Amino acid sequence: MAVQWTEDLATGIEEIDSQHKELFNRINALVDACSKGKGKEELTGVINFLGDYVVMHFGAEEKRMKAQGFPDYDKHKKQHDDFIGEFRDLKEKLEQKGPTVDLVIKVNHFLFDWLMNHIRKMDKVLGAFLKKNSN
Ligand SMILES: [Fe+2]
Repeated sequence: MAVQWTEDLATGIEEIDSQHKELFNRINALVDACSKGKGKEELTGVINFLGDYVVMHFGAEEKRMKAQGFPDYDKHKKQHDDFIGEFRDLKEKLEQKGPTVDLVIKVNHFLFDWLMNHIRKMDKVLGAFLKKNSN
């Protein structure tokens, strides 16, 4: 079951939006690899790929927040850090147990739910701020 990026998720900041789209692609690739029962090696590859991308993307947002003095930096950064923590847990479990049905549902749910919520609530506010305060 693939999840698609839709216009209502747009933050209005080109770089952030294109990275969000790429994140969706990579999460879809992970969920796909899990549900097709791909081998451990391939699964680990997809997870690492996604993990690296998430870190890069959060870093890009945080850099912009700092550069433009975003007032809710700490709160926003905490959500990013919490996500990375949860992601590491899931990654460990996937690597240990392989893609069990339970785990795949959890992965799917956590990644998409979190991402949708975070984009809708936090990143949109950030996007509006960045736009308003750009020179
Ligand atoms: Fe964010």
